[in-house]
Amino acid sequence: MAELDKKDDAVDATPGISEVEVVDAASETAALAAIEAPVDRGEPILQVRNLVKHFPLTQGILFKKQIGAVRAVDGVSFDLHQGETLGIVGESGCGKSTVAKLLMLLETATSGEVFYKGTDITKLSGKALKAVRRNIQMVFQDPYTSLNPRMTVGDIIGEPYEIHPEVAPKGDRRRKVQELLDVVGLNPEYINRYPHQFSGGQRQRIGIARGLALNPEIIICDEPVSALDVSVQAQVINLMAKLQDEFNLSYIFIAHDLSIVRHISDRVGVMYLGKMAEIGTDTQIYDHPTHPYTQALLSAVPVPDPEAREGRERIILTGDVPSPANPPSGCRFRTRCWKAEDKCATEEPLLAIPQRFKSVDSPAAHESACHFAEEKAVLAV
Ligand SMILES: Nc1ncnc2c1ncn2[C@@H]1O[C@H](COP(=O)(O)OP(=O)(O)OP(=O)(O)O)[C@@H](O)[C@H]1O
Ligand code: SF4
Ligand SMILES: [Mg+2]
Repeated sequence: MAELDKKDDAVDATPGISEVEVVDAASETAALAAIEAPVDRGEPILQVRNLVKHFPLTQGILFKKQIGAVRAVDGVSFDLHQGETLGIVGESGCGKSTVAKLLMLLETATSGEVFYKGTDITKLSGKALKAVRRNIQMVFQDPYTSLNPRMTVGDIIGEPYEIHPEVAPKGDRRRKVQELLDVVGLNPEYINRYPHQFSGGQRQRIGIARGLALNPEIIICDEPVSALDVSVQAQVINLMAKLQDEFNLSYIFIAHDLSIVRHISDRVGVMYLGKMAEIGTDTQIYDHPTHPYTQALLSAVPVPDPEAREGRERIILTGDVPSPANPPSGCRFRTRCWKAEDKCATEEPLLAIPQRFKSVDSPAAHESACHFAEEKAVLAV
């Protein structure tokens, strides 16, 4: 992915969880005023605190009895700063998409808070909720199934205006949609075409145009390029980086591919079994990881240079990812961690800057949920 244009004006990320200046969500006027207020670049725009989503596991057909719960997201906290891209990585099933759906309010949180400019959006209703829904948009993974095959591209991109007519009055919508097609690099004349008349990359551009239609402030991208050819991935990522600058957007970028995440992200969070294992700037996470899980993930990233490959230690994780319905006690990673000790089974490590790194000026001084966090030389990607 060397051809990707890495943004050179990356936001200076402030590591750590910031204090929330809470706005009274019960007062619609106060919430609306806060939601429409601008946020300075680099300041927190979204503050996620102890977010939990448990899906009930039930038994029985007629009389359903809850016998347990899938702890898909189990106490996740992080900040998204205005203008930055926060990447979220982790193995399949670790809860990335569930976090995205919770932030989009497509799922109801079991507990926890999501503060958008200080307003807890999990408790909103009415006009304030509608305003938040306009400001936080999503781009989905699969451009093949996320677009309605029976709708024209113009109708697909313009659909959000049906719910938010204030953004584009009826007479102005065609022009707006054509403008959006142009912005994402598609011919505005294609407005009457159907999704099957486009390639995968073009369809994802349509998905991005739809995400931009309401002039949002945050776009949550769940595996936006995973379904695309490698050759097209870079074009779509570069387009997203360009649009971020142009429209002053903040991104949450979820993906499996660690190289792609590094290229687009200012900061990266690593999730494991419903929890955040480590979070920091791209340099901190990729070049100075301190959590054994991050180190193992990075050690598995393919390296094209044979010389670099030779000198590299590959960490093989043993065992399967445990079930989120019955996660291990203490540290969730302990059943696969080569460094696990007794303490790891009894005490849950909290996501914090490890004590030993707190007073030192080192890239290792970032949040890591490990009792024995330490740097390990894993070849950078
Ligand atoms: N609606 C649901 N009902 C029950 N369990 C669910 C539901 N949605 C997700 N889960 C479970 O929650 C866990 C987390 O799923 P999620 O889709 O968030 O993972 P993910 O990190 O996005 O995985 P992938 O990388 O494969 O997309 C999984 O064990 C999944 O089976
Ligand atoms: S807390 Fe223990 S088990 Fe968990 S990652 Fe650290 S060393 Fe491994
Ligand atoms: Mg997913």
